[in-house]
Amino acid sequence: MSLSTAAGAQFGVQQLQDLEPSAEEFEAAVIAGLGSARKTLPCKFFYDAAGSVLFDRICKLPEYYLTRTELRILEDRAPDIAALLGPQASLIEFGAGSASKVGLILSQLDRPYSYVPVDISRKHLLAGAAGVARAFPGLRIAPVCADYTQNFALPVAASGTPGALAGFFPGSTIGNFTHAEAAVFLARTRHILRSGAVMIVGVDLRKDERVLNAAYDDAAGVTADFNLNLLRRINRELGGNFRVGQFEHSARWNETESRVEMHLVSRAAQTVRIGEAQFQFAEGESIHTENSYKYSIESFQALARDAGYEPVTCWTDERALFSVHALRVP
Ligand code: AVJ
Repeated sequence: MSLSTAAGAQFGVQQLQDLEPSAEEFEAAVIAGLGSARKTLPCKFFYDAAGSVLFDRICKLPEYYLTRTELRILEDRAPDIAALLGPQASLIEFGAGSASKVGLILSQLDRPYSYVPVDISRKHLLAGAAGVARAFPGLRIAPVCADYTQNFALPVAASGTPGALAGFFPGSTIGNFTHAEAAVFLARTRHILRSGAVMIVGVDLRKDERVLNAAYDDAAGVTADFNLNLLRRINRELGGNFRVGQFEHSARWNETESRVEMHLVSRAAQTVRIGEAQFQFAEGESIHTENSYKYSIESFQALARDAGYEPVTCWTDERALFSVHALRVP
């Protein structure tokens, strides 16, 4: 830690802004989701410590082409991104997780000023921030533990940047939002950033449904485990009595909605207790746990325009599996 008095002037990892969702928030969401006519659970709760580890394993699966394809695009295009951002830029990463991609951009930037990782999982966030601090000792790092769909105050290290403010939202996490939610999220980031700022967004593309289904239902069963971990988390944190073996992972492409849906399907008629609450499941009844929307380059650019951004560039791999978009705040 430096002896500087202004928070924005300190190098390394600065004070955490901690807005991690409370146990009450998790409980309320679970009770509401399982109590509705078509049962759902919000996918943001996948990422407890165990779920974050499982997600990192998913990223290395042969069927899960997203991560490695996006990394290759970012590696190839980092110099172009750096040129767009200019010197002394500050990067805000939404849903930073283990912060494994941002180094590709930071290493190409001209004297990057600060990095603000935002993530819902405090443990993962701090481990990622520490890793970036080791790799970039002269960088100000101001972590924010928050659900990035909620409002948070931009740390001084970023608001006081002498260069450009830039957003970074990789991983096709935007695919977890409905189109309406994605538009709201983009519009919100547009207000956090400033006029002229660049937003870099990773977006998975529509493709052969066999490729998509395999990516979300891998042979080793890691994605199944990731999905089922949500039930284990409810048991651990909310005193639930889910018999996890009585539920089956299901992933299916929905062409009309242009999305892969993940579900947990009840193998039998059963009752599940969570604290005082009880939930009935019919045999074959499902809990809808995640949507992963897939876009065409044009459909995503149209969405970005609707949210008030100007599409600048879009990069893709030679097989057009994945896209990285640069958008500008007018
Ligand atoms: C990181 C949210 C984009 O939807 O592809 C991976 C999460 N779910 N396998 C995705 C996920 C199942 C992932 N995102």
